[in-house]
Amino acid sequence: MTLASNSSRSAEAQSVLAQFAATGVQSCFHGRHINPQILAGLDGRNWQLKDYEARGGYQALRKILAQGGDPSGAEAETVGMTPDQVIAEVKASGLRGRGGAGFPTGLKWSFMPRQFPGQKYLVCNSDEGEPGTCKDRDIMQYNPHSVIEGMAIAAYAMGISVGYNYIHGEIFATYQRFEAALDEARAAGLLGDNILGSGFNFQLHAAHGFGAYICGEETALLESLEGKKGQPRFKPPFPASFGLYGKPTTINNTETFAAVPWIIRNGGAAYLECGKPNNGGTKIYSVSGDVELPGNYEVPMGTPFAKLLELAGGVRQGRTLKAVIPGGSSSPVLPASIMMECTMDYDSIAKAGSMLGSGAVIVMDDSRCMVESLKRLSYFYMHESCGQCTPCREGTGWLWRVVDRIHNGKGRQNDLDLLNSVADNIQGRTICALGDAAAMPVRAMIKHFRHEFEAMIKPPAPQVAAPEAAARASSHV
Ligand SMILES: Cc1cc2nc3c(=O)[nH]c(=O)nc-3n(C[C@H](O)[C@H](O)[C@H](O)COP(=O)(O)O)c2cc1C
Ligand code: SF4
Repeated sequence: MTLASNSSRSAEAQSVLAQFAATGVQSCFHGRHINPQILAGLDGRNWQLKDYEARGGYQALRKILAQGGDPSGAEAETVGMTPDQVIAEVKASGLRGRGGAGFPTGLKWSFMPRQFPGQKYLVCNSDEGEPGTCKDRDIMQYNPHSVIEGMAIAAYAMGISVGYNYIHGEIFATYQRFEAALDEARAAGLLGDNILGSGFNFQLHAAHGFGAYICGEETALLESLEGKKGQPRFKPPFPASFGLYGKPTTINNTETFAAVPWIIRNGGAAYLECGKPNNGGTKIYSVSGDVELPGNYEVPMGTPFAKLLELAGGVRQGRTLKAVIPGGSSSPVLPASIMMECTMDYDSIAKAGSMLGSGAVIVMDDSRCMVESLKRLSYFYMHESCGQCTPCREGTGWLWRVVDRIHNGKGRQNDLDLLNSVADNIQGRTICALGDAAAMPVRAMIKHFRHEFEAMIKPPAPQVAAPEAAARASSHV
């Protein structure tokens, strides 16, 4: 979350941000959410089991396990909710994965071959490396039991007995917080063997990464979890059939799991209703950049972007909105005029030509140079490419070098065509989507802000004929 350039913000914003800098607890405690589900009632101190239960926590797990019984065994029909019923409820909710792609969660869960005789795994993706994104960190720090309960429900629904939460390596305090919450849940019989006397077993462990962005890609994450170099695997086979240690595995984002207890407590239909069709529930947006009050804001899906911007205090004092990157650095930038007409949901942002992605909303005011912004983004992707495929390994370097030379006043006349052509040769031609993530921002920046790039590329010097050549030419006339 960018806290630099505070001096250009209003007095109120500066005081809120100073409080955040001093206590580290402002990012989601500002009270400016709309109908929050995951961040409701949090104050930075009430993360423990007793607090979570006071907010209705673990009621959903108790509900599905109500009458005990082994969900994979003969007593399946005697439990409070059968695994099929849980999956049906999640399907009905319209919950879409919050990790970036927005894949329907209930549908993903139904891909798990439940009757597979060997070990199956559940994995939570808390790698959260996408620039601009800082929501999963807050969820795990301040409401860790919502993730644990969501994972336990998912494990029950898919007949899984072992799970891992892979947590970004550079937020070690959050990893420790999650471990503390796991200890509480185990001690209370909410994790482990025979959970709540139901016969359902689920062992959940935390693991931490080491800060590589690519380890957020689900198959690179699995490799890393297995103790190998974090490089994406070729797909297919998909993790549902060949995942962790080659076994069927379901991977979801932290926020996706944290949404599940509310759905089971209140019903899929209620969740769908508080968002919009095909985009159920609320979403946490990490709003950063040139706004008065950067932070995490939980609002219903379909909330107008203008409203979200207002919650974040609007554009910095004295400035106007220029552009927005609506879903983390890999989503294409949109100019202010388009963004102000959008609602914040997967379909509206896709229709406008970008992606909701992880929900990291990077706001850029009229002081921002788009060439410089693209230079930074391109550097990031070049740095984070794992190097397995040639178009990504070589192409991300090309992109950065060409944007860098334009920014340094050494751009050439065909550089914009060259950038588009390099992006063309990366997109869709790589093992994982990091290649697309590097290419898409380039195309979008050139499409919407071409004039800024052209202004930095000097026109060709006029051809001045040498004196002898001019004399020769005139003697032929
Ligand atoms: C380069 C790259 C980085 C990614 N980083 C993350 C991440 O940090 N967190 C995350 O949940 N998903 C990330 N994803 C998406 C995951 O591969 C995967 O789709 C997601 O975890 C699935 O969870 P969901 O269905 O709940 O969204 C990334 C994908 C790519 C290509
Ligand atoms: S696209 Fe890039 S990051 Fe992904 S596997 Fe290929 S080289 Fe690695």
